[in-house]
Amino acid sequence: MSAWLWIAAGIVAALLLLALHDLLQRRHALLRAYPVLGRMRFMLEKVGPELRQYWFSPDKAERPFDRTERNWIYESAKRQSNTFGFGSESELERSSNYLVIRHAPFPHPTPSRGKAGAAPNFVLPSAKVLGEHRGRRHAFRPQSAVNVSAMSFGALSAPAVVSLNRGAKLAGCMQNTGEGGLSDYHLSGGELIFQIGTAYFGCRDKKGNFSLDQLKETIARGPVRALEVKLSQGAKPGLGGLLPAAKMTKEIADVRGVPADKDCVSPPGHTQFEDADGLLDFVEMLAAETGLPVGVKSAVGEQRFWSELAELMATTGRGVDFVTIDGGEGGTGAAPLVFTDHVSLPFKIGFSRVYGEFVRQGLERQVTFIGSGKLGLPESALFAFALGCDMVNVAREAMLAIGCIQAQICHTGRCPVGVTTQNKWLQRAIRPGDKAERLAQYVIALRGELYTLARACGVAHPSLVTADHLEILDDHFGSVTVREMFGYEEGWGAADEDDVEGLLEELGEDAGEESEEEAAAHGVTPFPEAAG
Ligand SMILES: Cc1cc2nc3c(=O)[nH]c(=O)nc-3n(C[C@H](O)[C@H](O)[C@H](O)COP(=O)(O)O)c2cc1C
Ligand code: SF4
Repeated sequence: MSAWLWIAAGIVAALLLLALHDLLQRRHALLRAYPVLGRMRFMLEKVGPELRQYWFSPDKAERPFDRTERNWIYESAKRQSNTFGFGSESELERSSNYLVIRHAPFPHPTPSRGKAGAAPNFVLPSAKVLGEHRGRRHAFRPQSAVNVSAMSFGALSAPAVVSLNRGAKLAGCMQNTGEGGLSDYHLSGGELIFQIGTAYFGCRDKKGNFSLDQLKETIARGPVRALEVKLSQGAKPGLGGLLPAAKMTKEIADVRGVPADKDCVSPPGHTQFEDADGLLDFVEMLAAETGLPVGVKSAVGEQRFWSELAELMATTGRGVDFVTIDGGEGGTGAAPLVFTDHVSLPFKIGFSRVYGEFVRQGLERQVTFIGSGKLGLPESALFAFALGCDMVNVAREAMLAIGCIQAQICHTGRCPVGVTTQNKWLQRAIRPGDKAERLAQYVIALRGELYTLARACGVAHPSLVTADHLEILDDHFGSVTVREMFGYEEGWGAADEDDVEGLLEELGEDAGEESEEEAAAHGVTPFPEAAG
């Protein structure tokens, strides 16, 4: 018999064996009814997401980030032209909740290249000094109003953490450690916000209780500028963090102080406090002991907690220095789908309600407001500033900048591009030097477009953009301002004059004094060479 006949006979025999296996197995009804053929369905189901992503989905169809959004991030990160030709593909008059930014007839002038607030670095200081109002010993003005959101080592791979940290250094922004403790990878030059989660990783004793001594030891290891007490995150509020056993390693377990062979689950709530009053005691204790500004991070569900917190702050002389509000549309390393889809309010609704509580108690100038939840794109970030945010945090957008392709299998430990896997082979995809630059270029581009939009609205800084600058169209030729839609009163969401003076000083006295020829030469986009 010829070799080909042997091969054909082998294939037939293998198929017969497979058919026999399918007929006899009891797990899949489909395979018992359609042996071998039924497997085609499983294969197609498996590659369906990739086929849709690359071939069939329209540019604006995918979620959480559609192709145009991802491309803006990729192009910005690679410092390629991120501008667009021919005209809008959006259905301006046929879309509901369509955002329009109301530009001014006379844009604010662009400062000279190289000056603070201008190309190439678009330094964007926060309008408020973090911790100033409560007199924290280490109060400071964050030099970047765009920062890297909380993502733990464990959820992220070591090279991803290094890339983000080095990138943060290059961009002059901060990286939040996430609740998984402070690893050596966080010590690559970038400044940090240390997050205190419900399991107190990085600040717990052997029994898992909060330990102030351990916290002090941890923050002494790195450039920690502030502490963030995590109550919840938008993608899984009411649940603690979850690191599946598939992603656990000895190293992660050591950083966290837990066993390496089990799912690492944080409890849903803190043991150090159980209400707003206890939270404020905890915050004041942390601030007094460390001198650092201390804030809380939370998603927004029921309202009572926020009104109590604001009232207690107004009446008892205790307070948080910052509030980070995460939207229900936010990301996670792993969470049950129903929590991701249905628990907690989306950012704009949740944030505006919380902000209102603080304004009603007269506290809005005393607290730095930070937003997260798909705010890493120019228009959504500007929306956040108009609602009253002083800063925005970016998580998944930062992941996209360092190579994430939105395969959405972060929880499996098989991330194909090394961002959220502990598999050393897959991690080889990330070269921290290159990726750090990409993160930095993306952050700088976002800051640049924020400035550009603010100047188009006639003001010098995104914190001066108010809810009156934004308008929402419906699909019936109707429209309302964001102020009307969110029930804001005049002046809500805008920075205070004193704060503005401080930040304009940081931006340099000549902000807005560039000659018209100079401005024309430099253009008003972060990448003038791409404009036109
Ligand atoms: C992989 C991953 C890990 C995360 N880990 C944490 C965490 O440890 N603590 C936390 O407060 N939020 C965590 N988050 C939520 C983000 O910090 C952020 O609030 C949320 O993703 C919204 O921002 P985005 O839309 O820019 O991704 C995580 C998100 C991702 C994608
Ligand atoms: S590529 Fe996929 S698995 Fe990897 S980080 Fe991005 S979404 Fe998660």
